[in-house]
Amino acid sequence: MTIYDILKESVREGIKNDFRGEQKTRNSIWKEIIDSGDGRSFENRYPDTGIVALSSTLTKQVRRAVVGIDIGTAEILAMLQWSQKEGKEIDLFIGHHPEGRLNGLMHLTLHSHIENLLAFGVDVRHLEDKFDNLIEDLKLDILSSNITQIHDSIHYLDTNYISIHSPADNIGARFVYEYVQKKQPETLQNTIDTMLEIEEYAHYEGINIISPTIISGEPDAPLGKYTFTDFVGGIEGPVEVYPEMKKQGIDTVICMHLTEKAIDRCRDIGLQVISTGHMSSDSIGLNLLCDTFEREGVEIVPVSGFVRVQRKTH
Ligand SMILES: [Fe+2]
Repeated sequence: MTIYDILKESVREGIKNDFRGEQKTRNSIWKEIIDSGDGRSFENRYPDTGIVALSSTLTKQVRRAVVGIDIGTAEILAMLQWSQKEGKEIDLFIGHHPEGRLNGLMHLTLHSHIENLLAFGVDVRHLEDKFDNLIEDLKLDILSSNITQIHDSIHYLDTNYISIHSPADNIGARFVYEYVQKKQPETLQNTIDTMLEIEEYAHYEGINIISPTIISGEPDAPLGKYTFTDFVGGIEGPVEVYPEMKKQGIDTVICMHLTEKAIDRCRDIGLQVISTGHMSSDSIGLNLLCDTFEREGVEIVPVSGFVRVQRKTH
């Protein structure tokens, strides 16, 4: 696979698993044409996914990729040192959380929350101004950030770096959602036990003592109607959505993690919350993508919180 193929396949899989559905995803406002440089191109609809910095062209063949949740200059330097020691060339770094220019675009994913919630039967279209306010705040934060830090390092290190964020989260969310749907756990505790059957969650519980946790609600309470909308969407939306979820019949939010502000609001209104854990959840989507890359002959080297679990089919 080339770097272009990896990006194209990630976006394709991301759209396929997007809760919004293919049509709505393809109609989202932001788009970027990714050009291979040899006459091929595709439309990327995910502002938090794409090229961070390249020293090669997009048509470079990738035989070995380093994949991690957060890849900064420290991880790049450590792995280039490993590469030299082992005599194993690294063709590409794939980070999950967007870096550089992509980090500066991440706020543009926020509007996807509205359509994700609609897919779960919750209409928050009347809260659009709250989303807009949050986007404005995030834009102000970007003004203070060191946006080219990673680009500048890569310029000197002669390597290639891409970020794959929302597509991996969509794939992971869909996988866990379908798993829970299939098992139909009755209570919140049953749901936690179901989650722990998934290898990434079991791994993190065993090694790092981070496991799916009930952060609002009682273990023997029914799971009821649930959403996975806080598993995707780039970043957390405005807190005003939680009372709407409750009002519109949702009993439980299953998320990777929430801020204290959102947790407090959920507890106040009696909305149940299961937090599955961040790194383990991010690993699931990345793993399913990496299985695809591996089948095409790409060797995966996991770093930075990414626990590699291979699945033959899913
Ligand atoms: Fe994440």
